[in-house]
Amino acid sequence: MNELIVGVIGAGSMGAGIAQVASQAGHKVYLNDSSPDALERAAKGHQKIFSRLLEKGKMTFDEANACAKRITYTRSIDDLKRCGLVIEAIIEDLEIKQGLFQELEMICGEDAVLASNTSTLPIVAIGGKLKDPSRVIGIHFFNPAPLMALVEVIPSMLTRDGLAAEMKDLMKAWGKVPVIAKDTPGFIVNRVARPFYGESIRILEEGIADEATIDWALKEIGGFRMGPFELMDLIGNDINFAVTSTAFQSFFYDPRYRPSVIQQRLVEGGLLGRKTGKGYYDYAEGAENPEPNKSKALGELIVNRVLCLLINSAIDAYHLKVASKEDLDLAMTKGVNYPKGLLAWGDERGLKNVLQRIDSLYDDYREERYRACVLLRRMVKEGKNFYN
Ligand SMILES: NC(=O)c1ccc[n+]([C@@H]2O[C@H](COP(=O)([O-])OP(=O)(O)OC[C@H]3O[C@@H](n4cnc5c(N)ncnc54)[C@H](O)[C@@H]3O)[C@@H](O)[C@H]2O)c1
Repeated sequence: MNELIVGVIGAGSMGAGIAQVASQAGHKVYLNDSSPDALERAAKGHQKIFSRLLEKGKMTFDEANACAKRITYTRSIDDLKRCGLVIEAIIEDLEIKQGLFQELEMICGEDAVLASNTSTLPIVAIGGKLKDPSRVIGIHFFNPAPLMALVEVIPSMLTRDGLAAEMKDLMKAWGKVPVIAKDTPGFIVNRVARPFYGESIRILEEGIADEATIDWALKEIGGFRMGPFELMDLIGNDINFAVTSTAFQSFFYDPRYRPSVIQQRLVEGGLLGRKTGKGYYDYAEGAENPEPNKSKALGELIVNRVLCLLINSAIDAYHLKVASKEDLDLAMTKGVNYPKGLLAWGDERGLKNVLQRIDSLYDDYREERYRACVLLRRMVKEGKNFYN
């Protein structure tokens, strides 16, 4: 057994998944939740998963048994006192998380690393109120945690030097693909991916194409695994709208991140997607949804517009030192299954072509939303590429 004892707080969809990953990596795990129902659901879920892995021959009987035994389900946070690493995955509320971290600081040993799985909150704010904020870091898993390879490791400006590298090594040992991201809104994936949704909604809003056509184009021509509208319906339009609105506020109302009225109306109307049976599409049995217009010219126009803005978004993140170019590309391929890293894709399409497309959108719209990143302009001027 691995000596490091891991605590996970919050036994919801993320916490239960993270506890499973840690247990499969050989750690003793304490999974804590204030709700006994959540703990019971997590325990039942784990039993089911370990038996399925056994049935499929992915684990021996002894391994499945040992994995299950390594997890202790507890309502008492004091049980986490021997943990060398605690990963918090509770409700997304800054004050509640700050209170929890202050409590953890009193319970855990001085050397324990305290991590948050937050998607949207600043790591520096979560750790900032502690006597020793240098041991606080973001470890951001993707849903479902046991299946998604990517983990964003996020040191804040108060995190001690070297901790990000230690956590990166640990995540590798857990079989994950870790990347290091700066403590800025949306970290890598939730920041860089905004135009995939935002620009697709803009195309819909202006009547250039309908949902079905945009989804078809981005899948068939763009090579994305899912179209933006089917993906938003799967994630939930309430969640997508909340993430977009938070990004917009966090970037001081930069028009690049502005949400759309369409999203707001869907949320107001309870059209949240698959979970309510209706969103951009109707999921009722026998419901008729529009067929895509499979015009190649229209499809290419859609893909070119969305992709050029995605590439610009990745270049902007690189320019502002959110992550290394390798980590930026890994994050999009491993975190949201993009067919290629966006910087490599920019090289492939020709940075000059990307810049021309964005500049022509800017000329048409005269909106800051369509401003090209200064680094893209500079690289085109100097004839440079990202990878060669
Ligand atoms: N769901 C996702 O796709 C996703 C992806 C990445 C990160 N996250 C982040 O992970 C965190 C958890 O998200 P989730 O989707 O698993 O939420 P969830 O609602 O499924 O689970 C949260 C759990 O935390 C428990 N809880 C709340 N306050 C607590 C406290 N003070 N002490 C102990 N337990 C407490 C709740 O009882 C619940 O079981 C959030 O910060 C979220 O932003 C979510």
